[in-house]
Amino acid sequence: MTTVLRTRAELRAALADAPRPVGLVPTMGWLHDGHRALMRRARGDNATTVATIFVNPRQFNVATDYTRYPRSEARDLAACEAEGVDLVWLPPVEEVYPAGFDTTVSVGAIARPLEGAARPGHFDGVATVVAILFGLVGADRAYFGQKDAQQVMVIRQMARDLAIGTEVVACPTVREPDGLALSSRNVHLTPEQRAAAPVLRRALVAARDRWAAGERSADALRDLMWETLTAERLANPEYVSVADGETLGELQTVDRQALLSLAVRFGATRLIDNEPIGSRTG
Ligand code: PAJ
Repeated sequence: MTTVLRTRAELRAALADAPRPVGLVPTMGWLHDGHRALMRRARGDNATTVATIFVNPRQFNVATDYTRYPRSEARDLAACEAEGVDLVWLPPVEEVYPAGFDTTVSVGAIARPLEGAARPGHFDGVATVVAILFGLVGADRAYFGQKDAQQVMVIRQMARDLAIGTEVVACPTVREPDGLALSSRNVHLTPEQRAAAPVLRRALVAARDRWAAGERSADALRDLMWETLTAERLANPEYVSVADGETLGELQTVDRQALLSLAVRFGATRLIDNEPIGSRTG
Protein backbone atom coordinates (compact mmCIF):
# COMPACT_ATOMS: atom_id res chain seq x y z
CA MET A 1 0.00 0.00 0.00
CA THR A 2 1.30 3.37 -1.00
CA THR A 3 0.76 6.17 1.53
CA VAL A 4 0.31 9.65 0.07
CA LEU A 5 1.68 12.58 2.07
CA ARG A 6 1.30 16.29 1.37
CA THR A 7 3.04 18.29 4.10
CA ARG A 8 6.56 18.29 5.47
CA ALA A 9 5.15 17.29 8.86
CA GLU A 10 3.28 14.28 7.45
CA LEU A 11 6.39 13.13 5.63
CA ARG A 12 8.58 13.42 8.72
CA ALA A 13 6.01 11.57 10.86
CA ALA A 14 5.73 8.72 8.35
CA LEU A 15 9.52 8.42 8.15
CA ALA A 16 10.01 8.37 11.91
CA ASP A 17 9.05 4.72 12.20
CA ALA A 18 9.84 3.55 8.65
CA PRO A 19 12.20 0.56 8.46
CA ARG A 20 15.72 1.38 7.30
CA PRO A 21 17.50 1.53 4.96
CA VAL A 22 15.40 4.14 3.18
CA GLY A 23 15.68 4.72 -0.58
CA LEU A 24 14.55 8.00 -2.18
CA VAL A 25 13.43 8.56 -5.78
CA PRO A 26 12.89 12.26 -6.56
CA THR A 27 10.71 12.95 -9.64
CA MET A 28 8.61 15.62 -11.28
CA GLY A 29 5.86 13.14 -12.10
CA TRP A 30 4.27 12.05 -15.39
CA LEU A 31 5.97 8.82 -14.45
CA HIS A 32 7.29 6.52 -17.16
CA ASP A 33 9.36 3.38 -17.19
CA GLY A 34 12.60 5.33 -16.59
CA HIS A 35 11.20 6.57 -13.27
CA ARG A 36 9.76 3.14 -12.56
CA ALA A 37 13.16 1.50 -13.07
CA LEU A 38 14.55 3.83 -10.36
CA MET A 39 11.68 2.83 -8.05
CA ARG A 40 12.29 -0.87 -8.71
CA ARG A 41 15.98 -0.48 -7.95
CA ALA A 42 15.23 1.49 -4.76
CA ARG A 43 12.75 -1.14 -3.66
CA GLY A 44 15.26 -3.94 -4.25
CA ASP A 45 18.00 -2.17 -2.26
CA ASN A 46 16.02 -0.78 0.69
CA ALA A 47 13.42 -1.64 3.33
CA THR A 48 11.42 1.54 2.65
CA THR A 49 11.00 3.29 -0.70
CA VAL A 50 10.04 6.97 -0.80
CA ALA A 51 9.15 8.74 -4.06
CA THR A 52 8.60 12.47 -4.37
CA ILE A 53 6.51 14.05 -7.12
CA PHE A 54 7.00 17.79 -7.41
CA VAL A 55 7.21 19.92 -10.54
CA ASN A 56 9.85 22.26 -9.19
CA PRO A 57 9.21 25.83 -10.45
CA ARG A 58 12.75 26.94 -9.56
CA GLN A 59 14.45 24.68 -12.09
CA PHE A 60 12.50 25.88 -15.14
CA ASN A 61 14.29 28.70 -16.89
CA VAL A 62 11.43 29.06 -19.38
CA ALA A 63 8.02 29.85 -17.83
CA THR A 64 6.00 28.07 -20.54
CA ASP A 65 8.03 24.90 -20.03
CA TYR A 66 6.83 24.92 -16.39
CA THR A 67 3.19 25.66 -17.15
CA ARG A 68 2.93 23.05 -19.89
CA TYR A 69 4.90 20.36 -18.03
CA PRO A 70 2.57 17.29 -18.03
CA ARG A 71 0.87 16.48 -14.74
CA SER A 72 -1.42 13.64 -13.63
CA GLU A 73 -1.65 12.70 -9.99
CA ALA A 74 -3.95 9.69 -10.55
CA ARG A 75 -1.69 8.22 -13.21
CA ASP A 76 1.44 8.78 -11.08
CA LEU A 77 -0.07 7.26 -7.94
CA ALA A 78 -1.09 4.15 -9.90
CA ALA A 79 2.54 3.78 -11.06
CA CYS A 80 3.87 4.19 -7.49
CA GLU A 81 1.37 1.62 -6.26
CA ALA A 82 2.35 -0.83 -9.01
CA GLU A 83 6.04 -0.44 -8.13
CA GLY A 84 5.47 -1.02 -4.42
CA VAL A 85 6.54 2.47 -3.34
CA ASP A 86 5.79 2.81 0.39
CA LEU A 87 5.56 6.60 0.76
CA VAL A 88 4.84 9.25 -1.87
CA TRP A 89 5.35 12.90 -1.06
CA LEU A 90 3.20 15.12 -3.29
CA PRO A 91 3.61 18.58 -1.79
CA PRO A 92 2.01 21.85 -2.85
CA VAL A 93 4.60 24.50 -3.78
CA GLU A 94 4.32 26.26 -0.39
CA GLU A 95 5.30 23.09 1.50
CA VAL A 96 8.57 22.94 -0.43
CA TYR A 97 9.14 26.71 -0.44
CA PRO A 98 7.32 28.12 2.59
CA ALA A 99 6.83 31.87 2.98
CA GLY A 100 10.19 33.43 3.72
CA PHE A 101 12.20 30.72 1.98
CA ASP A 102 15.41 32.44 0.91
CA THR A 103 18.24 29.99 0.18
CA THR A 104 19.75 28.90 -3.13
CA VAL A 105 22.14 25.98 -3.41
CA SER A 106 24.52 26.80 -6.23
CA VAL A 107 27.02 24.16 -7.35
CA GLY A 108 30.18 25.41 -9.06
CA ALA A 109 32.16 24.31 -12.12
CA ILE A 110 30.40 21.02 -12.84
CA ALA A 111 27.07 22.86 -13.14
CA ARG A 112 28.33 25.48 -15.62
CA PRO A 113 28.76 23.83 -19.05
CA LEU A 114 26.18 21.98 -21.18
CA GLU A 115 22.75 22.14 -19.54
CA GLY A 116 24.01 24.79 -17.10
CA ALA A 117 25.03 27.05 -19.99
CA ALA A 118 21.93 26.31 -22.06
CA ARG A 119 19.48 26.74 -19.16
CA PRO A 120 20.61 29.54 -16.82
CA GLY A 121 19.56 28.92 -13.22
CA HIS A 122 18.41 25.37 -13.94
CA PHE A 123 20.95 23.58 -11.75
CA ASP A 124 20.53 26.07 -8.89
CA GLY A 125 16.87 25.06 -8.88
CA VAL A 126 17.71 21.36 -9.03
CA ALA A 127 20.39 21.51 -6.31
CA THR A 128 18.15 23.58 -4.04
CA VAL A 129 15.15 21.27 -4.26
CA VAL A 130 17.25 18.10 -3.98
CA ALA A 131 19.02 19.53 -0.89
CA ILE A 132 15.57 20.11 0.68
CA LEU A 133 14.47 16.56 -0.21
CA PHE A 134 17.70 15.07 1.14
CA GLY A 135 17.27 17.06 4.36
CA LEU A 136 13.64 16.08 4.81
CA VAL A 137 13.93 12.39 3.97
CA GLY A 138 17.36 11.59 5.40
CA ALA A 139 17.51 8.64 3.00
CA ASP A 140 20.33 6.14 3.00
CA ARG A 141 20.35 6.13 -0.80
CA ALA A 142 18.84 8.28 -3.55
CA TYR A 143 18.35 7.15 -7.14
CA PHE A 144 18.88 9.22 -10.28
CA GLY A 145 18.94 8.45 -14.01
CA GLN A 146 22.04 8.60 -16.23
CA LYS A 147 19.70 10.14 -18.80
CA ASP A 148 20.50 13.39 -16.96
CA ALA A 149 24.21 12.64 -16.55
CA GLN A 150 25.23 16.17 -15.58
CA GLN A 151 22.42 16.32 -13.01
CA VAL A 152 23.86 13.23 -11.28
CA MET A 153 27.29 14.88 -11.17
CA VAL A 154 25.86 18.15 -9.80
CA ILE A 155 23.92 16.31 -7.07
CA ARG A 156 26.96 14.19 -6.13
CA GLN A 157 29.04 17.36 -5.76
CA MET A 158 26.31 19.04 -3.69
CA ALA A 159 25.89 16.04 -1.36
CA ARG A 160 29.66 15.70 -0.86
CA ASP A 161 30.20 19.41 -0.20
CA LEU A 162 27.25 19.77 2.18
CA ALA A 163 28.17 16.58 4.08
CA ILE A 164 24.83 14.95 3.29
CA GLY A 165 25.01 11.27 4.18
CA THR A 166 22.74 10.06 1.37
CA GLU A 167 24.50 7.85 -1.20
CA VAL A 168 23.75 9.00 -4.77
CA VAL A 169 23.07 5.98 -7.02
CA ALA A 170 23.05 6.43 -10.83
CA CYS A 171 20.84 4.10 -12.88
CA PRO A 172 20.95 3.30 -16.63
CA THR A 173 18.83 5.20 -19.16
CA VAL A 174 15.63 3.42 -20.14
CA ARG A 175 14.77 3.70 -23.86
CA GLU A 176 11.96 3.02 -26.29
CA PRO A 177 12.62 0.11 -28.68
CA ASP A 178 13.74 2.63 -31.35
CA GLY A 179 16.34 4.13 -29.00
CA LEU A 180 14.53 7.29 -27.89
CA ALA A 181 15.21 7.88 -24.17
CA LEU A 182 11.99 7.95 -22.16
CA SER A 183 11.15 11.47 -21.01
CA SER A 184 8.05 13.16 -19.66
CA ARG A 185 8.53 15.76 -22.41
CA ASN A 186 8.15 13.15 -25.20
CA VAL A 187 4.37 13.53 -24.78
CA HIS A 188 4.62 16.96 -26.45
CA LEU A 189 6.08 15.56 -29.70
CA THR A 190 3.81 15.46 -32.74
CA PRO A 191 3.71 12.06 -34.50
CA GLU A 192 6.17 13.38 -37.11
CA GLN A 193 8.54 14.73 -34.43
CA ARG A 194 8.24 11.48 -32.49
CA ALA A 195 9.22 9.54 -35.62
CA ALA A 196 12.26 11.81 -36.07
CA ALA A 197 13.37 11.85 -32.41
CA PRO A 198 15.47 8.64 -32.44
CA VAL A 199 18.03 10.72 -34.35
CA LEU A 200 19.45 11.72 -30.93
CA ARG A 201 20.36 8.13 -30.21
CA ARG A 202 21.58 7.54 -33.78
CA ALA A 203 23.96 10.50 -33.50
CA LEU A 204 25.36 9.27 -30.18
CA VAL A 205 25.75 5.69 -31.43
CA ALA A 206 27.43 6.88 -34.65
CA ALA A 207 29.98 8.85 -32.59
CA ARG A 208 30.47 6.01 -30.12
CA ASP A 209 31.06 3.56 -32.98
CA ARG A 210 33.50 5.94 -34.69
CA TRP A 211 35.36 6.28 -31.38
CA ALA A 212 35.37 2.48 -30.94
CA ALA A 213 36.88 2.19 -34.43
CA GLY A 214 39.80 4.36 -33.29
CA GLU A 215 38.78 7.99 -33.90
CA ARG A 216 40.24 10.17 -31.12
CA SER A 217 39.59 13.66 -32.50
CA ALA A 218 36.77 15.21 -30.48
CA ASP A 219 35.99 17.61 -33.34
CA ALA A 220 35.54 14.69 -35.73
CA LEU A 221 33.05 13.13 -33.30
CA ARG A 222 31.24 16.46 -32.78
CA ASP A 223 31.01 16.94 -36.56
CA LEU A 224 29.62 13.46 -37.00
CA MET A 225 26.92 14.04 -34.34
CA TRP A 226 26.06 17.47 -35.78
CA GLU A 227 25.79 16.09 -39.35
CA THR A 228 23.65 13.17 -38.21
CA LEU A 229 21.29 15.53 -36.38
CA THR A 230 21.02 18.17 -39.13
CA ALA A 231 20.23 15.46 -41.71
CA GLU A 232 16.90 15.13 -39.87
CA ARG A 233 14.70 17.99 -41.12
CA LEU A 234 12.63 18.36 -37.92
CA ALA A 235 15.63 18.36 -35.57
CA ASN A 236 17.19 21.67 -34.47
CA PRO A 237 20.37 20.79 -32.62
CA GLU A 238 21.29 23.16 -29.76
CA TYR A 239 24.66 21.68 -28.82
CA VAL A 240 26.76 18.57 -29.27
CA SER A 241 29.54 17.86 -26.80
CA VAL A 242 32.50 15.55 -26.33
CA ALA A 243 33.57 16.30 -22.77
CA ASP A 244 35.87 14.97 -20.06
CA GLY A 245 33.81 12.39 -18.14
CA GLU A 246 34.82 13.85 -14.77
CA THR A 247 35.00 17.62 -15.31
CA LEU A 248 32.68 17.99 -18.35
CA GLY A 249 35.28 20.28 -19.95
CA GLU A 250 35.29 19.99 -23.76
CA LEU A 251 38.04 17.70 -25.08
CA GLN A 252 40.32 18.06 -28.06
CA THR A 253 41.49 14.47 -27.94
CA VAL A 254 39.47 11.63 -26.50
CA ASP A 255 42.27 10.14 -24.42
CA ARG A 256 40.25 9.48 -21.26
CA GLN A 257 36.76 8.61 -20.04
CA ALA A 258 34.40 10.96 -21.86
CA LEU A 259 30.75 11.89 -22.16
CA LEU A 260 29.07 12.35 -25.53
CA SER A 261 26.00 14.52 -25.06
CA LEU A 262 23.55 16.61 -27.03
CA ALA A 263 20.46 18.78 -26.82
CA VAL A 264 18.00 19.02 -29.71
CA ARG A 265 14.79 20.94 -30.25
CA PHE A 266 11.78 19.60 -32.12
CA GLY A 267 9.55 22.65 -32.37
CA ALA A 268 9.08 23.87 -28.78
CA THR A 269 10.14 20.54 -27.25
CA ARG A 270 13.73 20.19 -26.10
CA LEU A 271 15.25 16.73 -25.72
CA ILE A 272 18.63 15.68 -24.30
CA ASP A 273 20.58 12.43 -24.32
CA ASN A 274 24.12 11.21 -23.68
CA GLU A 275 26.47 8.26 -23.95
CA PRO A 276 29.60 7.65 -21.88
CA ILE A 277 32.68 6.31 -23.71
CA GLY A 278 36.00 4.96 -22.51
CA SER A 279 36.96 3.87 -19.05
CA ARG A 280 38.47 5.63 -16.07
CA THR A 281 41.68 3.70 -16.50
CA GLY A 282 41.84 4.82 -20.14
P1 PAJ B 1 12.41 14.00 -13.72
O1 PAJ B 1 12.72 14.55 -15.06
O2 PAJ B 1 11.00 13.64 -13.37
O3 PAJ B 1 13.29 12.72 -13.52
C1 PAJ B 1 13.32 12.04 -12.29
C2 PAJ B 1 14.45 11.04 -12.34
O4 PAJ B 1 14.19 10.07 -13.38
C3 PAJ B 1 15.80 11.69 -12.67
O5 PAJ B 1 16.81 11.13 -11.87
C4 PAJ B 1 15.99 11.35 -14.13
O6 PAJ B 1 17.34 11.30 -14.54
C5 PAJ B 1 15.33 9.98 -14.19
N1 PAJ B 1 14.97 9.63 -15.56
C6 PAJ B 1 14.26 10.37 -16.44
N2 PAJ B 1 14.17 9.73 -17.63
C7 PAJ B 1 14.84 8.57 -17.49
C8 PAJ B 1 15.12 7.47 -18.37
N3 PAJ B 1 14.69 7.45 -19.62
N4 PAJ B 1 15.86 6.44 -17.89
C9 PAJ B 1 16.32 6.46 -16.60
N5 PAJ B 1 16.08 7.45 -15.74
C10 PAJ B 1 15.36 8.50 -16.17
O7 PAJ B 1 15.15 14.97 -13.00
C11 PAJ B 1 14.19 15.48 -12.43
O8 PAJ B 1 12.89 15.02 -12.57
C12 PAJ B 1 14.32 16.66 -11.50
O9 PAJ B 1 15.40 17.46 -11.92
C13 PAJ B 1 14.51 16.26 -10.02
C14 PAJ B 1 15.80 15.47 -9.79
C15 PAJ B 1 13.29 15.45 -9.53
C16 PAJ B 1 14.58 17.55 -9.16
O10 PAJ B 1 13.45 18.32 -9.32
